[in-house]
Formats: sequence, C-alpha cells, structure tokens
Amino acid sequence: MKQYQLKEVSKAKLKILEKYFPAWARILGSRNPILVFVDCFAGAGRYPGGEEGSPLLILQKARDTIQDFKSSLTILVIFVEKNKTSAKHLKANIPKDLPESLKVAVFNEDAHDFVPKLLEAIPRGMPAFFFIDPYGHPLTIPVMNQILSRPRTEILLNLMWYAINMHLSNPRTRQAIDKMFGHSDWYGQPFMRARQYERENQFVDYFLSQLEAHYKLKFRIRFSPEDDVPGGWHRTKYYLIHLSNHPKAALLMKEVMWSLGDEMGTFDFSARPQKRLFPQTPQVDELIQYLQQHYVGSGRVLTFGELREETWELPFIRKHYHKAITQLEGEGKVWIERMKSQRTGIRDRNKLHFVTEA
Ligand SMILES: C[S@@+](CC[C@H](N)C(=O)[O-])C[C@H]1O[C@@H](n2cnc3c(N)ncnc32)[C@H](O)[C@@H]1O
Repeated sequence: MKQYQLKEVSKAKLKILEKYFPAWARILGSRNPILVFVDCFAGAGRYPGGEEGSPLLILQKARDTIQDFKSSLTILVIFVEKNKTSAKHLKANIPKDLPESLKVAVFNEDAHDFVPKLLEAIPRGMPAFFFIDPYGHPLTIPVMNQILSRPRTEILLNLMWYAINMHLSNPRTRQAIDKMFGHSDWYGQPFMRARQYERENQFVDYFLSQLEAHYKLKFRIRFSPEDDVPGGWHRTKYYLIHLSNHPKAALLMKEVMWSLGDEMGTFDFSARPQKRLFPQTPQVDELIQYLQQHYVGSGRVLTFGELREETWELPFIRKHYHKAITQLEGEGKVWIERMKSQRTGIRDRNKLHFVTEA
C-alpha cells in the first residue's frame, strides 16, 4: 500500500498553529474561564501516514495548557468535518483520557451551514479561535466577517491560492466564487486580467480588503518538492492568513511566523530554504532608518510595546526593535525610562523618549 507522508508545506501550517495556539490560550486563559477553539475543516485527526493532524495537535496543546492552569480553565474544542468517514475516524482518534475541563465535540456537518449556527450558540465575548483549513474554498467572506465582528475572536485561514486561481477563470466555478465573496464584483477586478504574480498579489490584496479585521498578517507558502509541480519552489501553494482585531494577537503571530519563515522577514515559507525568492533579509539598519525618519527628533514619548503595536505592519519582530532602540539609545537619540529595579534591557512597558531636534 502506498505510504503517504505529510508534506513539508502542510507541516508549515501545523507548526504555526502548534506554536500560536498555546500562547493564545495562555494569554486569554489568564483572564477568561472558558476558551473556544473551532477547527472548521478538521479532517480525520491523523494523516494517512500516521502523523498527527490539527485536531490531535490542538488537543495535546490544550491538555498541556489546562494542566498549567491546574484545571481553572476550560477549553471547548469543536471539530467540524463534512466527510462521514473522516468524522468517524476523527471520533475514534480522540484520546479517551482527556481532562474534565477539556471538552471536545465532533460534528459531521458542512462548515458553511454549521458555523453560522455555532456562532449563535457561543456566548458573545467568550474568546474564540477559528482555524479554517479547507482543500479549496474557505468559509465565505460574509461568514468570516460575522466571526470577526465578535469580540476576542480571531481566525487562522489557509487560503488555497493554487486551487482558487484555477477556478477564477472557469465559467463553471463562477457561482462558487460568487458565494465565497458574497457578491459578483470580484469578476470586474483588475486581477482577472492580470497574470502570474501580479494576479496573485492583486487577488490576495482584494480578498484581504473584503475581510473586516484590523490586523491581517499573511505568510506565503510555496509548493514542496514532493508536490512535483514544475517550478514549484517559487510558486505559491497557499497563504496562511491571520485575522484579528487586537494588536497583541498580531504581534504574537508575527513572532511565530517569523521564526518559521526563511529568516528573510517576508514571512515567506518555502520547503527549500536554500532557494529564496526574496534575496534580502530585512536588516535592523532598515528599522533604524525607519525610526530615524518617523520618530527620532519628534519629541514623542511612547512605550516600547506601543511602538511595536503602532508599526506592526513592518516586517520586524521584537529582537529587531530591541537592537534598533539599543543602538539609538547609544547614540543619544532616545532615552529609555526603565523600572527602578531594571538596569538594562527593554520591556514593553518601558517608556521611550525620542529626543527633540536640537
Ligand atoms: C485540508 S483537510 C484538513 C486537514 C486538517 N486541518 C489537519 O491538519 O489535519 C480539509 C478537510 O475538510 C473537509 N471538508 C471539506 N469540505 C468541508 C465542509 N464544507 N465542511 C466541513 N469539512 C469539509 C475535508 O473532508 C477534509 O477532511
């Protein structure tokens, strides 16, 4: 029998989920007694080669988090899977020895119909994280906007560019794309006449513009060598898109995505890291230059955390900000108001005073 292996490109999304979810659960779990995780396109729990899929990975991470909270936290994990056999396998794959406060439910349902009903059942204000990982079309944009309109609710979306791209110009799939957008305006957009990267970039920008989230981060994932696609290493397979309305969620996801990227700062993942599409890694010097232009000499006072939040769209993570501010401090361009007990280092709540121009 053919043994399937979990492809490198599939591992990328699972690694991001696996790293982000515990941090999300720890932060929100310290302020809320119940958290909800919804895996909208759950699969069978395991891949055919035996590797753990998103459901089993999440259950393990949720179990660890609950243990750390000594059961003062309840996590509800909801799996939605349309395929009857996969849903059956998923039920069978769920460990039998889960703690009391880890509640799991598997629904053999179509996520498109089921998720709107589920939203009515989850109390507003209860933190919730929706993972949307289809083979092709995701939940519709109107349903995703319904999710995003709720407080403390975020989405990690797998946007299957290669599958959607095949459908864009096919008259037989036009209705399905209408359904995805919730309208037919997409058909007249410039990406429909564009080619290759221009088409891809314009489409992704347009798609993101339709989503009502304040913070949108994208992580580009190219084909794996195992996909055996001609020129695949520089072609996009999918984008992982994180949608949230809280700056701390975006900053946290940025740290996670960066650590899994090609260390290029483009949040671009390839299964062949030696072949990099974008040659340059954003350098700390570029951040220093940006800060010189926008902050140095302004007389502004803000905390280190506020600075990172205000500039969240820049492709830099905490370590870069740390280096840049330390250098500017050395040059006398900023002074850092540290805590009494703190001699060095920079914490999020430390105030940065950008000196005024002499
Ligand atoms: C890419 S797989 C999910 C893999 C899973 N996230 C993992 O990492 O283990 C997509 C799954 O969505 C299921 N699916 C497809 N259409 C669906 C729908 N409308 N509602 C719910 N599940 C669906 C498929 O049967 C398949 O199991």
